[in-house]
Amino acid sequence: MKKIILDVDTGHDDAIAIEMAAGSSDLEILGIVAVSGNQTLDKTLENTLNLCDSLGIKAPVFRGSEFPLIRQRVVAGKIHGETGFDGPVFGPRKKQAESQRGVDFIVNSVLEAPGEVYLVPTGPLTDIALAMRLDSRVASLVKGIVLMGGSLGKGNVTPSAEFNIYADPEAASIVFSSGAPIVMMGLDVTLSVVLDPPRIQQITSKPGKARSILKASMEFYTQSCLRYAGSYPAMHDPCTIAYLHDPSMFSVKPMRIEVETKGSLTYGRTVGIEDSQSRTLVACKVDQQRFWSFLDSALEDRA
Ligand code: BDR
Ligand code: CA
Repeated sequence: MKKIILDVDTGHDDAIAIEMAAGSSDLEILGIVAVSGNQTLDKTLENTLNLCDSLGIKAPVFRGSEFPLIRQRVVAGKIHGETGFDGPVFGPRKKQAESQRGVDFIVNSVLEAPGEVYLVPTGPLTDIALAMRLDSRVASLVKGIVLMGGSLGKGNVTPSAEFNIYADPEAASIVFSSGAPIVMMGLDVTLSVVLDPPRIQQITSKPGKARSILKASMEFYTQSCLRYAGSYPAMHDPCTIAYLHDPSMFSVKPMRIEVETKGSLTYGRTVGIEDSQSRTLVACKVDQQRFWSFLDSALEDRA
């Protein structure tokens, strides 16, 4: 089993990534850290706790960073709503956040199991950068970082930048220059994985708690994606979990990634330079059929 730590800004597509990770027999979730991104930290933490509580996900949940390293905080309230996860309604929950800081949890977990832990950030990279700054061994001792963020082409929040990188470019720059083995799931591949109404119908016609949460969340998310992104929802964050489950689903190429932190028009852009020696792999294509079949099987009710 691959040991993973999710670092999420839950978020509609983060929620599906969490559901998929919990439903994969190949992945062991050591913990989940919530970070500010799609909404403020209190909200992304609340969403993460609600989701885990309602699905019986036992992994501990931690509080990550409330603000980016340097820039002003930005959130994606239009796309993900006022709560950051508009749509599903949750009852009172029992699950509470752990008292340990999320960043400390990341550092300790990596040091305790050197060469075994994958970090899976699907929000801004603030926590990962801070963990690397807290202990410089983190970058060399992680098994890998499989992240959602960036784009070799256009952005989705500015013409140049993808949201997760734009929300903390300085953190992204630290992570991409750390020397850690990274897989970048950027818009180049994630925009091709689209959850359209027939697919939603197919997935949610079967019974199960995870499927019913997905259905309620897509009622909101489909409308906001159509209105603000001009397309049906792309499964950005779930691509990280699909890759960890079965890397052969994706075509990747080695590239050095530089993050623009100075340009006023290009702030947060990820620039890819082909480099066969690079430890960063950029995903460029996914086997759609295998992706959807994995998603469907991961949502099976195991309760
Ligand atoms: C990324 O931004 C967020 O809104 C999504 O959850 C995803 O992680 C896509 O650009
Ligand atoms: Ca996200």
